[in-house]
Amino acid sequence: MLPIFRSVPSVRTQTADWRAAGLRIALVPTMGALHDGHLSLVRMARTKADRVLTSIFVNPTQFGPTEDFAAYPRQEEADCAKLATAGADGLYAPTVAEIYPSGFATTVTVAGLSEGLCGDFRPGHFAGVATVVAKLLLQTAPDIALFGEKDFQQLQVIRRMAHDLDIPVAVEGVVTVREADGLAMSSRNAYLSPAERDIAPVLFRVLCDCSARLQQGKPAAEVLESGIAAILAAGFSSVDYLELRAADDLRPLDRLTRPARLLVAARLGKARLIDNIAA
Ligand code: PAJ
Repeated sequence: MLPIFRSVPSVRTQTADWRAAGLRIALVPTMGALHDGHLSLVRMARTKADRVLTSIFVNPTQFGPTEDFAAYPRQEEADCAKLATAGADGLYAPTVAEIYPSGFATTVTVAGLSEGLCGDFRPGHFAGVATVVAKLLLQTAPDIALFGEKDFQQLQVIRRMAHDLDIPVAVEGVVTVREADGLAMSSRNAYLSPAERDIAPVLFRVLCDCSARLQQGKPAAEVLESGIAAILAAGFSSVDYLELRAADDLRPLDRLTRPARLLVAARLGKARLIDNIAA
């Protein structure tokens, strides 16, 4: 049985015991509804630490007022079984009141990296992410914390936040796990109808096509414009963005001149899907 911790003191006691025994601790934060993408983080953590602590917390402060906080899938029992099989040693699953007790008044904002891309379409989202991840890191004090490249802007925001706040943790990115047809695994793929599910892999195919054309030296403006047209033609209702950014600081690029990332967000039915690849 996977031990579950519901309170800050109980998770602190466990991680302090592990640390006192000289064990290296990895943290894998999630919002649950676990799929193979999440589990790949747990498996990677297993190879890098002696104890793997996971967390499930559907964080209200990173959802906008019209977003899917209430509808977000919650399935703790099934998640626990998956985590145990993947090799986790414990689950931290606090309540909202434990993380945000009455009177809570602090927000962590990462300027620059939180702006543009998803930041423009989800106001306050990255402040919610940075705040909750800072709390999780301070509550559990892991040696290493793992996050997916699937959420590339989030990964860069978290790296910056941990560095700027002198939180002594190694933040590590893990490559995106995809379905056989290329669709990036996401808890939100469950919102897709069968017809939409057939359309969804277009996002990854367009990223790959755009990357190939950028590598031939074509200007980003031209490549991205035709990429957006291809996504809409496939049946997506809108494209929030399709952009070429520097891989490290997410600065916009007009050509492929340095290590870069192609990032996309688009809406299909009830779902807002995001993806990115190295350009
Ligand atoms: P969630 O969407 O549950 O994702 C948890 C972690 O799994 C994140 O680091 C995410 O990037 C990673 N992940 C999701 N899909 C993946 C895939 N297909 N391949 C590899 N990794 C994948 O991201 C969050 O939760 C939250 O914002 C959180 C960081 C927990 C803060 O609340």
